[in-house]
Amino acid sequence: MADMIGRSEITCILQESKKDEEDTTKSLNGDQRKLDASEAEAVDSEYEPIPKKNYEPAGIIAPHGSPKKRLNIPDPKRDNVGKDKTLYKYGNYSRYYGYRNTKDFHDVRLNVFAQHKDLFVGMEILDIGCNVGLLTMSIAKEYSISHITGLDIDKSLINQAKKFIQRQRRNFTGIERSGYPFNVTFLHGNYVVRNAVLLEVKERQHFDLILCLSVTKWIHLNFGDDGVKLAFKRMFKQLKTGGKLILEPQPWNSYKRRKKLTPEIAENFNAVRFYPKDFTEYLLSDAVGFSRMYELEKPTHDVKGFQRPLQVFVKDG
Ligand SMILES: C[S@@+](CC[C@H](N)C(=O)[O-])C[C@H]1O[C@@H](n2cnc3c(N)ncnc32)[C@H](O)[C@@H]1O
Repeated sequence: MADMIGRSEITCILQESKKDEEDTTKSLNGDQRKLDASEAEAVDSEYEPIPKKNYEPAGIIAPHGSPKKRLNIPDPKRDNVGKDKTLYKYGNYSRYYGYRNTKDFHDVRLNVFAQHKDLFVGMEILDIGCNVGLLTMSIAKEYSISHITGLDIDKSLINQAKKFIQRQRRNFTGIERSGYPFNVTFLHGNYVVRNAVLLEVKERQHFDLILCLSVTKWIHLNFGDDGVKLAFKRMFKQLKTGGKLILEPQPWNSYKRRKKLTPEIAENFNAVRFYPKDFTEYLLSDAVGFSRMYELEKPTHDVKGFQRPLQVFVKDG
């Protein structure tokens, strides 16, 4: 399986993640604070622990340092893993793909998407919670899409993605300026609007495809049942007729380990009455309006927690 975004590019973006952590003043919820280089990724214990040997992706040859140092893949000892987990209260892990794509940096969900290229070809796409944009850019590069917008609540992640794509554009030597890297935009923002009225007045049908991959748990924990419901309604409203939502929800049992991350999260967790098992029925109800759902093949991943269903919800006319 050919890499979607090349290995050297991935190495580069992972290295930039680290550099940006050192350089960037992070501002979430007005909490301005300089990230210390030693503050590391909190391993997301929603997933089963990744065996240590898997931290080293295969086949990367770089000149200096240990593989972990070169690739900025967290070392629990060096990085004080778990020191301040509230930094990642949105699931905004800066080295998420270092954990997720353990095998040759390849994202196994792309294997599934490759079997369903028709979902992507020629499409105007929104990727909600795009993190540093690795998956977003792979899709932009490989699937002859029209355009993809990656949105994330974490400004420093979006800045990394923007920097990376700007450099790709600067280094571009071709003539045709319509495909990758010109067909991707990164935006900073919270997908959850403040209230339902805003949905009514502001939304317009713009996208053929919306991706919401491994994000619902974080919306749920931070913005409660109402936040998830508003997000689902917004997705429906932003899709054109015939448009599709690809949803990869995290299961309820993965929420529990995160329930004490912040006081708001604890409060929202205890107030949950709308569970991930209820999502499908809700999305297909009149409250939202999707007319049908089908599942894509489950990606195969060494880590069981990443073998999540990929659901496609269709907005018919
Ligand atoms: C676990 S990561 C998943 C990244 C990517 N979607 C994937 O599956 O590879 C969750 C991402 O969602 C983002 N996120 C969480 N809540 C969000 C919100 N309300 N609006 C936009 N992005 C959000 C986080 O910052 C984080 O980058």
